[in-house]
Amino acid sequence: MCIVLTENRRFDGGVYLCRRTALATTLTRREGQVRIWEMFPDLFAAVHKSHEEVGLVGHHDWVHAARVGQIAYQIGLNETDKQTAELAGVAGLCHNADKVIQKKLGVGRREVPTDETSRLVKSWLMTETRPSAYGHVPEPVFGYYGPEVDAIVAAVLGHDGKNSSNDSPVLIALMDADRIVNLDGDLFARSGQHYADLPVVDYKHFLDDPEATYQAPRTVFRDIAYSLDWVDSESGVCIRTQLGKLLAAKRAAIFRLVTDGLRDQLEEEGIIPYPFGD
Ligand SMILES: [Fe+2]
Repeated sequence: MCIVLTENRRFDGGVYLCRRTALATTLTRREGQVRIWEMFPDLFAAVHKSHEEVGLVGHHDWVHAARVGQIAYQIGLNETDKQTAELAGVAGLCHNADKVIQKKLGVGRREVPTDETSRLVKSWLMTETRPSAYGHVPEPVFGYYGPEVDAIVAAVLGHDGKNSSNDSPVLIALMDADRIVNLDGDLFARSGQHYADLPVVDYKHFLDDPEATYQAPRTVFRDIAYSLDWVDSESGVCIRTQLGKLLAAKRAAIFRLVTDGLRDQLEEEGIIPYPFGD
C-alpha cells in the first residue's frame, strides 16, 4: 500500500503495517505470562501511592512507570537473564523517583537531591515481600539485598544520561525502555501540551532551523523530531539493545510517516519552499 505523493517521496504504509504485524506477534501476551506490576504488586502499589500523593500526572505519571518497567523487563529477558530482567523491570517501575521528589519539593529538574531519590527508591524496594532467590546470601531473604539494591538505584539515578561503555545491563535495559516509551504516539500530543506557547511548525526551515536545540526547540515539531536521536547511531543516546532497536524502529516509522506527510502537505499547499520572504 504505497501512495505516491511527489516524485521524490512517498508513504510506504505497507512496510509499516508489515512491521506492525510482526512485532505485535513478538510481544503479544502469552498464556501464563505476567506483567511486571503483577510480579511485584506490593512494590507497584507503593510506587503508585507515592505518585498520587504528590499529584504527579502527565508525562511522568505512574502508568508511565509501569510502561517503562514492562518494556525494560522484556528487553532484559531478550538480552540477558531472568534475574537481570526482573531488576531492569523493577528499576523501570521506580525510575520516576526523581520526578516524585521534584514535584514534592517544587524544585527544578537539576536541583533534585540525589540522596532523597535514592532513599525513596530504597523505601519502595523495602515493600517487596517476595523471597530473594539470587543466591549470593546463605539463606533466602525477603526483597532485595546488597548488589540488587545498588543496581536498581544506580540505574534509576543514571537513566537520564548519555550512553557510556560503563553502563550496566540493568541500566541499558532501563534507558532503552524509557526512550522507547517516549517514542510512543502520545508524544505528539504531549509535546504540544508541554510547548503550548511555541509555534507548532516552522514553515521556513521545517525541521532544519539552525538555531533550534534540544533544550530550546523553537517549534513543537522540532521537539518531536529530537526524539529520533534515540534511533540515530551517531547521537550518543541511541537505543542499544536488539529488542529495543526493533521496537524503536517501529515507533520511528510512525514519526517519519507524520513528519514526511506534513512536509508533503505543505509542499502541496505551496508553503514549502517558503514563499513569503524573511
Ligand atoms: Fe521515563
